[in-house]
Amino acid sequence: MDKVQDTIDLLKMYNQEHIIKLLERLEGEKKQALIEQISKIDFHQLKELYDNTKRKIEIKENKIEPLPYLDKKKLSKEQKETFQKLGEAVLEKGEYAVVTMAGGQGTRLGHSGPKGTFKLDVYGKGKYLFEILAENLKQANQKYGKIIPWYIMTSKENNNATIQFMEKHNYFGYDKNSVRFFTQSELPIVDVDGKLLVGKDMRIKEASDGNGGTYSSLRASGCLAEMKERGIKWVFIGGVDNALLKMADTVLLGMAIDKKVQIASKSIVKANPHERVGVFAKMNGHPKVIEYSEMPDKMAEEVDEDGELKYGEAHIMCNLYTIEAIEKISKETLIYHTAFKKNAYIDKNGKEVIPQRENSYKFESFIFDAFELFDDIAILRGKREDDFAPVKNKEGVDSPKTAKELYEKFWNR
Ligand code: UTP
Repeated sequence: MDKVQDTIDLLKMYNQEHIIKLLERLEGEKKQALIEQISKIDFHQLKELYDNTKRKIEIKENKIEPLPYLDKKKLSKEQKETFQKLGEAVLEKGEYAVVTMAGGQGTRLGHSGPKGTFKLDVYGKGKYLFEILAENLKQANQKYGKIIPWYIMTSKENNNATIQFMEKHNYFGYDKNSVRFFTQSELPIVDVDGKLLVGKDMRIKEASDGNGGTYSSLRASGCLAEMKERGIKWVFIGGVDNALLKMADTVLLGMAIDKKVQIASKSIVKANPHERVGVFAKMNGHPKVIEYSEMPDKMAEEVDEDGELKYGEAHIMCNLYTIEAIEKISKETLIYHTAFKKNAYIDKNGKEVIPQRENSYKFESFIFDAFELFDDIAILRGKREDDFAPVKNKEGVDSPKTAKELYEKFWNR
């Protein structure tokens, strides 16, 4: 009984009285489950996140400067070989692990099921995105004589479907014992007044907390500890939806070692000043990725003495970390960004409401917001045609059609 009263008091304290009415209608297991879920919510954090939706974060031009990078195709033969040797040694010693972020909802693509289970129509037969990633890793395993441990981050929503899919396809020939799934954390969704939403299943509506949750979820799941036990020194973290992602690039790895940095990232040049991608920069002396929506037009168009865009290095979710860097970030709280979304809910009379317009806030942290915790990161400029074939939208730019073309062109070469 006390537990029920405690929950009611908590809900009152944080202006969530509407849930009390719903709670009173429930009995037995469903009631217990809701109480249990409410007890795990950090209401203080949620209030802060909601208050932040009212604030606009402004980027002041004068605090920003370009972040230096190395262009892979302009490296001298010696420099490239030095990097490669340094990188290869890590792979040969089995000190390298890979994380695939596969917890996204893939709403723009509109594929029913986890994004990695999407089949890209390449070479007649087609290949699943997970299959393409597995092939990339298998190549590296063969080359360096070690099996790279592969950690796949799922969401609570798509975890079962992802595991079933991989089982069904026999992990695309990957050593099953070297694949581990872990689930990312979630945060409650709130409406425009900061009220929690309850779904048809009579649970508080929650959603994945963005790909920035990778670090803390690696720790919470025990994957980080396992990596350390395995003697892993470097961890690559990449997305699930780039058909040309190179997960074991020894030049990138060697560059990071040579430059003695804790994080290295591969970039590509922006297709045009207004391409909708985040770009690398330095803000207040720290590395950062500035989202296209946050970058003033003038700055986006600025060129240097060679006529190249000053802020032209696009972030493509191709990031490499020392295990110490992951450890450090996993203990920090990254900033949360707000997305305004449509979410159905149960009203106080128990009736489901399906909104016509966006009605609620979802909170997400981004993987790259961790960069500013460091003084420096190293950037290696890759090439769009070698490194970037994203599957984001159903049609048009960054769609299955463009990714198929880029993938086939690359492999035909
Ligand atoms: P995106 O931000 O492009 O999101 O994710 P998405 O889910 O693929 O697609 P939309 O925006 O809903 O259409 C970039 C990478 O981050 C992962 C995705 O799976 C993808 O690999 N991600 C994103 C997560 O793992 N968790 C999240 O909460 C969000």
